[in-house]
Amino acid sequence: LKGVVLLLAAGEGARLGGSEPKAFLDLAGTPVIRHAYEAILSAELVEAIVVAAPAGYERRIESLLPPDSKPVTIVTGGVTRQASAAAALDAAPTGDAYLVHDAARALAPSALFDAVLRELDECEAVVPALPLVDTIKETAEDHVVRTIDRSALVAVQTPQGFRADVYRRAHAAAAKDGFAGTDDAALVERLGVRVRIVPGDDRNMKITTAHDAAVAEGLLGAGR
Ligand code: CTP
Ligand code: MG
Repeated sequence: LKGVVLLLAAGEGARLGGSEPKAFLDLAGTPVIRHAYEAILSAELVEAIVVAAPAGYERRIESLLPPDSKPVTIVTGGVTRQASAAAALDAAPTGDAYLVHDAARALAPSALFDAVLRELDECEAVVPALPLVDTIKETAEDHVVRTIDRSALVAVQTPQGFRADVYRRAHAAAAKDGFAGTDDAALVERLGVRVRIVPGDDRNMKITTAHDAAVAEGLLGAGR
């Protein structure tokens, strides 16, 4: 399938702790938003992009995008990530599928966008995921309650891909029910739609803290 990417860049980056939104963080000479955007431009099966920008920064985001581009729409993001995704979806052109991506995953490889879209030929929803490396424990206050069997657990990334009708239904249902999820697949899972897993990429880390930014710069320096 061909798809429209909803690129979420409207967060403030509180945990990063800079003076500006995280989208403007410089990584090896290029802002986070542009790293993410260029990977999407290189994805063959992506036909349009909607960027959710921090309120008041829409023009600045626009100025950082390369001039020769796929069709792009810039919208003002919301207070939560889910609200930013809903705003981007509202402004999105109709397409076969939507891929929702965190701009904070600035090092996402182009091939991952195409891989998710190819998988959507055969299913309705797809998330990239990696196995957990740490042992996971349930806790209460200051002690361990039990160790979770991690063999069935994964850590999910973005881009997460959905058939267009499924993703629109999922947002409508979440809004109606007041449901807040921490990723997009959670909205779709509630509808009873099966979400397929494809391999994530270990370079596709989410830049959350200053430490993560340093790691990402190291990965960029090492060549993508
Ligand atoms: N995001 C968004 N709108 C929001 C909150 C988050 O578009 N209201 C986006 C961020 O820009 C980011 C992605 O969702 O690309 C993942 O969010 P996160 O890593 O939590 O980024 P921030 O919310 O900016 O960071 P923090 O939570 O530390 O403030
Ligand atoms: Mg956040």
